[in-house]
Amino acid sequence: MSPPTEEPQPLRPDIAVAATAAAHRYGTPCYLTDLRELDRCAREVRSAFPEPWLVHYSLKANPLPAVVARLAGAGLGANVVSRGEWDAAARAGLPNSEVTLEGIGKRDADLEAAVAAARAGLPLRWLTLESQEEARVLLGLAVERGLAPGRSLDLLLRLNPGVDPDTHAGLRVGTSDSKFGMAEPQLRHLAEEIGQAGTGVRLRGVHVHVGSQLRGAAAWAVAAERACRLVAELAGRDPEMDTVDLGGGFPAASQAGPAPRRFREELEAALDSRGTPLPARVSVEPGRYLVATSGWLVARVLHVRTRPDGAQVVIDASFAELVRPALYGARHPVIAVTAPARSASTSLPTRVEGSLCESTDSFGVHRLPPMRRGDLVVLQETGAYASSMFSSYNGRVQPPEVLLHPDGEVELAREGRPFVP
Ligand SMILES: Cc1ncc(COP(=O)(O)O)c(C=O)c1O
Repeated sequence: MSPPTEEPQPLRPDIAVAATAAAHRYGTPCYLTDLRELDRCAREVRSAFPEPWLVHYSLKANPLPAVVARLAGAGLGANVVSRGEWDAAARAGLPNSEVTLEGIGKRDADLEAAVAAARAGLPLRWLTLESQEEARVLLGLAVERGLAPGRSLDLLLRLNPGVDPDTHAGLRVGTSDSKFGMAEPQLRHLAEEIGQAGTGVRLRGVHVHVGSQLRGAAAWAVAAERACRLVAELAGRDPEMDTVDLGGGFPAASQAGPAPRRFREELEAALDSRGTPLPARVSVEPGRYLVATSGWLVARVLHVRTRPDGAQVVIDASFAELVRPALYGARHPVIAVTAPARSASTSLPTRVEGSLCESTDSFGVHRLPPMRRGDLVVLQETGAYASSMFSSYNGRVQPPEVLLHPDGEVELAREGRPFVP
C-alpha cells in the first residue's frame, strides 16, 4: 500500500455515498465492491493478454460469487485451489471447462472430485499436480474409476523455477527452497512416469507462479521462459504437451510495479533472446490486480483517545476482516467518511487501531479529522486477500458483502455470517 500520507486523502464522492448507504442498511464492518473499477481492471488484463491467452481469475484473492461472475462476464475463467473455491466458481456460473484446479493443499477427496467430474464427462480445464505423491494418488484413482480417452483429465505439473522475485518475503514463492512445485529434474521424471501410465489422463504442460505483488517483471519472465522451454522439450516426446500456465503476481494498479502488459512484453523479450517458442495454449491467473482496487472496507469509530503521541481511534474493523497490515505490514489508507465537517484543515495524525484483543491489530497512523464514536471511515484497496482471509477470532461475524453498481445503486451480495463456535 502507499506510504503514510501527510495530507488526508480526498474520498471519491460516490464511495462516500455508497459507504454511508451500505453502513446504514447492512451495518459495519462491511465490504464494498466497486463494480466499475472491477470492470476496468478486467479490461486492462484482457487487453494486456489478448486471445489466444487464457485468463483465469485466481479466486483466492476474493471468492465472492458476484465478483467471480462479473469477471466471467468479461471473459475470464477461474483458478481454484479447493473444492470450496470450485463450488464458488460453479455458483458464479462457470462450467468446469473454464476452471483450473491447483494448490499445495490438495487432499485425496479433491483429486477424487476432479476424477469424478472427468468421468461424468465434465472435466476441469486442467488440474495441476504439485508432487509425485499427488500424481500417484491421481493415477490410482484414474485406473480405479475408469478414466479413458473421451473421459480423460488434462494435467499440468507445477515447476519450482528457482527465481527470487522482488517482493515482500511473505509473498515470494518461486525460490528453490520454497515448498511449491517440483525442480526440473523431478518434473521431467514425473512427466515420463505419467506418460507411461496410459490411464486416461493427459499431460498437457507446465504451471509456474513466482509470487505476488511483484515489483518487477524480470524474475516472472525468467520463470515463464523456463516453463515454456520445458514444455517445448517435453513436446519433443509427447506432442500433446502444448500448455503453460504462468500464474499471477501482477501488483495492484496503485502500487509500485509494472502494469500487466509489461509482464507479457518482458516474457516476449525473454523468449526471443533464447529462441524459445510460446506453446499453443497459454494462460495467466491473476488475483490481486483484478480485485484489489475495487474493494473498500467500511467501519465505524468505537473509541477516541488522546495519547501522549497524538490521537488514537479504535474502529469496529480488525485484522479478522483485513489481516494484511498485521501479516505483511501492508498499509491501507484510512479515510474519514462522516466527519468532513470537522474538515481536512484540522486533520491530525491519528493511530487507527482494530478492535481485537491483540496489539498487532493496528492499521497505522493516518491523518484524520477529529473523530467521534459512530463516525464512519473506509479502508482503501481492500478487494484482494481481505474478505478471503477473514478469521472468526474473538467470535467475529463475517461481514456482509455489498456491491456498488456503476449507476450508483448499492446491493447486498451476501449477508453477514454469524460466528459458529
Ligand atoms: C498458484 C497461484 N496462482 C495465482 C495466484 C494469484 O496471485 P496474485 O493475486 O498475486 O495475482 C497465486 C497467489 O498466491 C498463486 O499461488
